Amino acid sequence: MALVDTKEADADTEFVRFWNEVLAPKFTKYRHILQGGLSRHSAAIIPDLPITKGMSVLDIGCGWGDMSLQVAEMVGPEGRVVGIDCVDAFLEEARKDAAAQGLDNVEFRRGDAEIALPENEFDYVVARFGTMFFTNPVPALRRMRLALKPGGRMTHIVWRRREDNPAWQAAKDIALEHLPAPGADADTCGPGPFSMGDRDMVEVMMRSAGYEDVTFTRIDEKIMVGSTPEECVAFALAIGPAGEVFREAGEELAEAKRPQIEADMRAFFEQHEQDEQGIWVPTSSWVISARNPG
Ligand SMILES: C[S@@+](CC[C@H](N)C(=O)[O-])C[C@H]1O[C@@H](n2cnc3c(N)ncnc32)[C@H](O)[C@@H]1O
Repeated sequence: MALVDTKEADADTEFVRFWNEVLAPKFTKYRHILQGGLSRHSAAIIPDLPITKGMSVLDIGCGWGDMSLQVAEMVGPEGRVVGIDCVDAFLEEARKDAAAQGLDNVEFRRGDAEIALPENEFDYVVARFGTMFFTNPVPALRRMRLALKPGGRMTHIVWRRREDNPAWQAAKDIALEHLPAPGADADTCGPGPFSMGDRDMVEVMMRSAGYEDVTFTRIDEKIMVGSTPEECVAFALAIGPAGEVFREAGEELAEAKRPQIEADMRAFFEQHEQDEQGIWVPTSSWVISARNPG
C-alpha cells in the first residue's frame, strides 16, 4: 500500500505533533464521552450504507476505531478495512479492540491523511468527524476521492453550524465572556469543528474535489457530555472550542477566571436534560455522501 508512514519518515507536521502531544491525552481521558457522542451520529446511518460483503473500505481519522470495527463486520472476512489516524495512542487502542473482537480483516495505520493516502484501492471511504480538521480541505477531499476505485463511494460526517451545536458552542461562548479569543497564531486542532457546517460551501468543496452525486442528510442527536455538571465543565474546559479558549488564554489568566467560568458553565449544563447516565445537550451533523466518477 502506497501510504507514507509519517512517523518513520520523521516528517510530522506541527499539526500532527499537536494532536499527539496536546490533544491525545485529553481525548483519551474523555473517550467515554467523545466516542459515545460521536457514535450516536453514525449509528443510524452506517448500517444502511451500501457497504457489502467483500468490499474494501478506508476510514479516515478513525480515532479509536469503533466505526472501522463496525464496518469490518459489514464487509466480512472476504473484505477488508483500513483505519488511518495521525495519533499513535488512538491506534493502539483500536488495534487492541480489533484483537479483542477477533477481527483480522481490519488494520490500523498511522498517517496524515492530508499528506498521503493509498490510491485507487477502495470501494468505499468513510470518515466520522475527521474531515473538519483538514487544513486544506479541497486537496484533502480530492485525495480521499483518489483513494477510491472509479465509481467508489464515500460518506463523511461533520458538525453542522455552531448555533445548532450548543454542546460545543455554548461552553465556548461562556469562556469568551471571561477570556480573550485565541489569536491567529494559536495552536489548534485545525480549522475547527464547524469548518464544514455550511452546506452550500461544502457542496462546492466536494464538487471542486471531483465528486458527483453529492447528498446531505441532517442528523440531530443529543449527546451525553458528562455524568455530572462537574464532569461536563471539566470536559468542556479540556476539549473542543471552549477548551481551546481556556488553553490559549495562558495559565495565569485562565486559572484566575476559572471559578467564574466554571460557575457559569455549571449553570448552563444544569438546565439540560439529565438521566441516570448524565447530562444530554443537542448536537447536529451533516452526513455527506458522494461518488467518485473515476
Ligand atoms: C473528533 S476525532 C474523531 C475520531 C473518530 N473518527 C470518531 O468518530 O470517534 C478526529 C480524529 O481525526 C484525526 N485526524 C485529524 N486530522 C487528521 C489527519 N490529517 N490525518 C489523519 N487523522 C487525522 C484525529 O487524530 C482524531 O482521531
